[in-house]
Amino acid sequence: MEKKKVLVTYNMWREGYAELIRKYDVTFPPDGVESFSYEEVLDRIAEYDALQSMYDFPVDKRLMDAASKLKIISNYAVGYDNIDIPYATSKGIQVTNTPGPVTEPTADQAMGLLLAVSRRISELDRRIRIPGSIKVALLTNLGHSIYGATLGIIGMGRIGRALARRALAAGMKIVYHNRHQLEKSVEQEYKATYLSLDELLRTADVVSLNAPYNEETHHIIDEQALKKMKSTAILLNTARGPLVDEEALAKALRQGEIWAAGLDVFENCNYPIPELLSLDNVVMTPHIGTQTVEIRHEMAAHVSRNIINFFEGGPVDKVNQL
Ligand code: GLV
Repeated sequence: MEKKKVLVTYNMWREGYAELIRKYDVTFPPDGVESFSYEEVLDRIAEYDALQSMYDFPVDKRLMDAASKLKIISNYAVGYDNIDIPYATSKGIQVTNTPGPVTEPTADQAMGLLLAVSRRISELDRRIRIPGSIKVALLTNLGHSIYGATLGIIGMGRIGRALARRALAAGMKIVYHNRHQLEKSVEQEYKATYLSLDELLRTADVVSLNAPYNEETHHIIDEQALKKMKSTAILLNTARGPLVDEEALAKALRQGEIWAAGLDVFENCNYPIPELLSLDNVVMTPHIGTQTVEIRHEMAAHVSRNIINFFEGGPVDKVNQL
C-alpha cells in the first residue's frame, strides 16, 4: 500500500517526528530553508493526505480548495486561529492541536512576566548596567507585591488553571472570567471565584489573558476595558496579540491608566508597535510561551501522534467535530 504523504511546513528538529517519518512519506522544507512559504505549500498541497502547520501559517479556503486529498491538519499549537475551522469542517478535514505540551510552559511564561513586571526586574536590570542611572534608596525602585494580590484570569482553560496553581503557591487570590462558569468542584480546587468581565477588570490587581483568539475575544481589552482596570493593575498577555488593542494599551501605559504590562504576543506579526518600545512599564518577549528545547521535542511528537492516531485509530486532540 502506498504510504500516506505528510507535509510539514517548518524545518523542525526531526527527533520528535521519528515515528511519523518511519511510517509515512514526510516532506520537510529542504536543508537550509526555515519554512515553506504559503505559495510553496499551495503548489504542493494537492498530493498530500496530511498537513502539519505551524501556529502562524495561514490555512485558508484557497489552500484547502487546492488540497484535494487532505484529511487532517495537525496544528503545532494549542491556538488554531490561523485555520479557517468552519471551512475545514465543511470539507470533512479533521483539525487537531497540541493542548498537552503547551500548558505548563505557557503558564511559566505568564508567571515569569508577572514577577518581572511586578518587581520591575527587566527595567532595573537595564538601568543597573548604566553608571549613574539608578538610585539605591528605600523609596525608589518600588514594585507591587503579588502575595495577597488578586489575579483575574480571563480564560480558565488548561493554561489559565496552570497559572492559577502557580499563583496560589505565590499566595495570590484567584478570580476568573470564562465563557461558562466552571463546576463548583473545579472552582474549589483552584479557590477561584467567577466574576463578570466588568467585575474582574474593576477588582483584579493582575489581569491575565489566557483565552483563545476569535471574533468574540477580538480586542477584549480595548480602551474601555483599560479604563475599568485599577491604576495599579498589571495586564499580562501570553495568549494572542489581537486580544488587546495595542494602541490603546500603549496609551494607557503612558498615561498611567494602568501600572504595567507583560506581553509575550503582539497584534501585528509578533512584533510590538513602536509606541511600546520606549515605555519602561512594559516587559516584552517574542512569543516564547512554548519556546524551550524540551517542549519543541514534545510538540513534534504530539503533532505526529495526532496524525498517526487519526489514520490508524486512537485518540487525537480534535478541534472540530466532523
Ligand atoms: C502557541 O502560541 C500556541 O498556541 O500553542
